Amino acid sequence: MLVLMVAMLLQMQVPGVAEHRVTDIFKPLASPAEAEKNIAYLTFAITGAIFLVVASLLVYTIYRFRRRPGDDAHQEPPQVYGSNQIEIAWTVIPILIVFVLIGVSARVIAAVENASPPVKKLDVTLIGHQWWWEVNYPQYGFTTANEIHIPANVDGKTATYFKLQSMDVIHSFWVPQLSGKTDLIPNRDNFTWIDPKQPGVYVGNCAEYCGTQHANMFLRVVADTPEDFRKWAAAQQKDGAEDAGAARGKNAFLSLSCANCHVVQGTTAKGKFGPDLTHLMSRQTIGAGVLTNTAQNLRAWVNDPQEAKPGCLMPGMRLTDQELDQVMSYLRTLD
Ligand code: CUA
Repeated sequence: MLVLMVAMLLQMQVPGVAEHRVTDIFKPLASPAEAEKNIAYLTFAITGAIFLVVASLLVYTIYRFRRRPGDDAHQEPPQVYGSNQIEIAWTVIPILIVFVLIGVSARVIAAVENASPPVKKLDVTLIGHQWWWEVNYPQYGFTTANEIHIPANVDGKTATYFKLQSMDVIHSFWVPQLSGKTDLIPNRDNFTWIDPKQPGVYVGNCAEYCGTQHANMFLRVVADTPEDFRKWAAAQQKDGAEDAGAARGKNAFLSLSCANCHVVQGTTAKGKFGPDLTHLMSRQTIGAGVLTNTAQNLRAWVNDPQEAKPGCLMPGMRLTDQELDQVMSYLRTLD
């Protein structure tokens, strides 16, 4: 029962996204999460046993020493002072349990951290921002946001290694089916790795409170087949699309404040405060997972991001309908 309740608490769903994906630490699909699942079971078994023993003793005591008719309400029951045996027992047993848990955890942490890198190793630098994720691919030289495409480990020789950094406060990378949490800490590099065995979308969330929109700092790991990943990476390396029909939209985008905070490769938009928009339309969601990336949602988002994500650092720009139309016509070409 207890295990079930905790398992339910650990499941998360992404609002606004059509396919609700449930995450579950008991259904791991990558090596680090698999190793960690067994610790979770062991911990639940030990704490469950402790709960049963304590609860049974409590219930027994409440029943056995209940007040009965004829008891003198003012007379205390016999008091017992000191028992070396009992005191030694309740000191030694918890110490042993704690040492077992520390030992097992340390062994798994060491095994995950010291795992030797596989033949095919993709490097990703993941940078936490309030409240979105910047995703850099140093081997390929491009940047994206919130959706981390990686090759699935279909051949048993592929893994993705993350360097984790933060631009502002402490965030935490957690995709429950792939690996345990690892913090992103300012002025420090942390590392973790994943090797999802099946292609698919794995949903995660920031797991360290980082401000108002912490709960809406979603993360998607998109594990592609090696071939799909190659295609995706090749497309991401290109500059922002040029579409003759959207020339006026492009001018509007570049002359408004958009360009101060966002990058579109191949244009004068070089702002670094917000997500890189070069291939915005290749993403499934906007606002770090708060909305699905449809034309209607994107328009509403650009019109006033504070509606869907109050407190987020992108202000409502008070664009006129005409400006909004132009910016939208340009953004829609960034595939
Ligand atoms: Cu980022 Cu919580």
